[in-house]
Amino acid sequence: MSASILVTQQIPEEGLTLLHSAQDATLEINPTPGAIWTPEELRARVPGHDYLLCLLTDQVDAATLEAGARGAPPLRLVANMAVGYNNIDLAAARRLGILVTNTPGVLTDATADLTFALLLAVARRIPEADRFVRAGRFTGWQPMLLLGAELTGKTLGIVGMGRIGRAVARRALGFGMSVLYSGHHALPSEEERALNATFAPLAEVLRLADFVSLHVPYTPQTHHLLNAETLALLRSRAYLINTARGPIVDEAALVAALQAGQLRGAALDVFEDEPRIHPALLTMEQVVLAPHIGSATHETRARMATTAAANILAHLRGETPPNLAPTGE
Ligand code: DGY
Repeated sequence: MSASILVTQQIPEEGLTLLHSAQDATLEINPTPGAIWTPEELRARVPGHDYLLCLLTDQVDAATLEAGARGAPPLRLVANMAVGYNNIDLAAARRLGILVTNTPGVLTDATADLTFALLLAVARRIPEADRFVRAGRFTGWQPMLLLGAELTGKTLGIVGMGRIGRAVARRALGFGMSVLYSGHHALPSEEERALNATFAPLAEVLRLADFVSLHVPYTPQTHHLLNAETLALLRSRAYLINTARGPIVDEAALVAALQAGQLRGAALDVFEDEPRIHPALLTMEQVVLAPHIGSATHETRARMATTAAANILAHLRGETPPNLAPTGE
């Protein structure tokens, strides 16, 4: 009997080609480019499919998983085309015996690159400079025009030293920065030496860093990790960079801290309530904004699509999918 795969949005061709190569599998793909199904639409579409390939913009909640589990055939696996999977109710998936997979590893460098692009953009005021030139305001070199912050000799605070955090630390080496990092545990001392990195409690990282970059997953424990109290620890010359997940930062508290000059600037690729953005952020020159594009390179998005597809294909062959997300054990 053939398996049925539902793909919630149009994904890179490489992933679809892999799915099409599966024997005895039928594919249903959201036909409307750019359309994101509402939770209700998704819930209505999932039943009757063995596999769901979804994106981080799809809210795969308990009700959707329950509807899938009751379907004929029942939903067996949700393959998220993202490394983060906070859009999926993992506890419900576990209760219902539905597997969840993600795409770790393949987007590490792209995300670390964007982190550094944003760090440089906010430190050297590049979007502001671009707006300045386009507005016809460039009348010649000036000694005090658009001065920014230098990276060499500065401390980069990395909150969460997983794959992406370490890739960011490697890039910091090239800019002559030292790294202070927090996380569950310290890296082996050899790796610390190689990365010029020192383990410290979060409060110390926030107090001492010139740039703070967030690289923790979004969980109940990391919700508003940066809030009024922790933002108050930052140096007034510090910059905050977030390419992880928006709700790790209390956005209203960040706006208040920026307005009060508790930090010098912020560069944000993710937002607390995407795609909504706090209106005050849109007006601030010292803030650089990007529309959640950390993994947005041709190469990485193709790898994310093939990894998500490969997770489904492995299960179809009766194997354990390579990138199983922990479903709450
Ligand atoms: C992820 O994969 O979790 C990123 O946020 C999007 O690529």
